Amino acid sequence: MERLDRLDLTTSMTSTPNTHPQHVLVVGGTGKTGRRVAERLERLGIDVRIGSRSARPSFGWNDPSTWAAAVDGIDAAYLSYYPDVSFPDAAAAVGAFARQAAAAGVRRLVLLSGRGEPEAEPAERSVQEAGVEWTVLRCAWFAQNFSEHFLLQPVLDGVIALPAGDITEPFLDVDDVADVAVAALTEGGHHGQVYELTGPRLLGFADIAAELSRATGRRIDYVSVTPEQYAAAAAAAGVPAEEIEPLTELFTRVLDGHNAYLTSDVQKVLGRPARDFADYARRTAAGGAWQPTGH
Ligand SMILES: NC(=O)c1ccc[n+]([C@@H]2O[C@H](COP(=O)([O-])OP(=O)(O)OC[C@H]3O[C@@H](n4cnc5c(N)ncnc54)[C@H](OP(=O)(O)O)[C@@H]3O)[C@@H](O)[C@H]2O)c1
Repeated sequence: MERLDRLDLTTSMTSTPNTHPQHVLVVGGTGKTGRRVAERLERLGIDVRIGSRSARPSFGWNDPSTWAAAVDGIDAAYLSYYPDVSFPDAAAAVGAFARQAAAAGVRRLVLLSGRGEPEAEPAERSVQEAGVEWTVLRCAWFAQNFSEHFLLQPVLDGVIALPAGDITEPFLDVDDVADVAVAALTEGGHHGQVYELTGPRLLGFADIAAELSRATGRRIDYVSVTPEQYAAAAAAAGVPAEEIEPLTELFTRVLDGHNAYLTSDVQKVLGRPARDFADYARRTAAGGAWQPTGH
């Protein structure tokens, strides 16, 4: 972001002068990545519209009647699909939305995707074939899953039980995702790029538990479970039945070790190394996200 803050938005930011996006739609703009993308764009003086069910006007992936208002007057859009870009319904919705956005004059799309997930590629292709400038961000596991998502409660409880064995993963800070997304939305040179974004270090879930223990000053353990045990625990914790199977299936195919390697794409785009999990853990602990609630 330091680099972006210094750029003169009115002149040399893109390869086509004076055509940098001024009005940007951030789909999922209240979520982990989208909220950070929106904040950064606003700091750059760009007009931001949030696309989500709670936004006004409301945007729903399942409600195409909301799409025209979302893209009206928009130059570029950040797309994060919910619940997961690799789920079977994603490609049809993302593709139909991308084509409608292109027809409405949107010139650039940046899609948040998953790394090492062939199931996400149909959604990626649908954006690549929409007839606009595009960038795909294939992301590793987010560090913020432990503070802003489904692993927050396990961290508070002191036990992270996942069907992940001793595989390692290059956990990625969503602040880096947002910095790369903003670069792709506002700078030239990112059209046609599929970036694979990883953190700077491979960590197993036991290493993660140790980092979280250090940062919080509390004991947090990792317990490797079978997919069946994970599904049973999720059901007992009240996760809706229709979400358990796709979630368990997602872990089984993503957490098998095939993503256990690093890339340098964060460095390539931002000119600085990716943020480390230990930095995330320290920052997040200091911000109070893991304070015990007392019940
Ligand atoms: N978690 C990971 O480790 C990871 C790694 C790689 C890729 N990804 C990808 O990240 C994407 C999720 O992005 P995220 O983590 O930034 O978001 P998130 O934190 O899960 O937040 C979801 C966002 O989508 C909105 N939303 C929910 N349901 C919606 C609907 N039906 N229609 C329109 N908007 C809806 C929410 O706002 P409202 O509630 O107001 O609608 C919110 O802004 C998924 O596609 C996933 O595949 C995740």
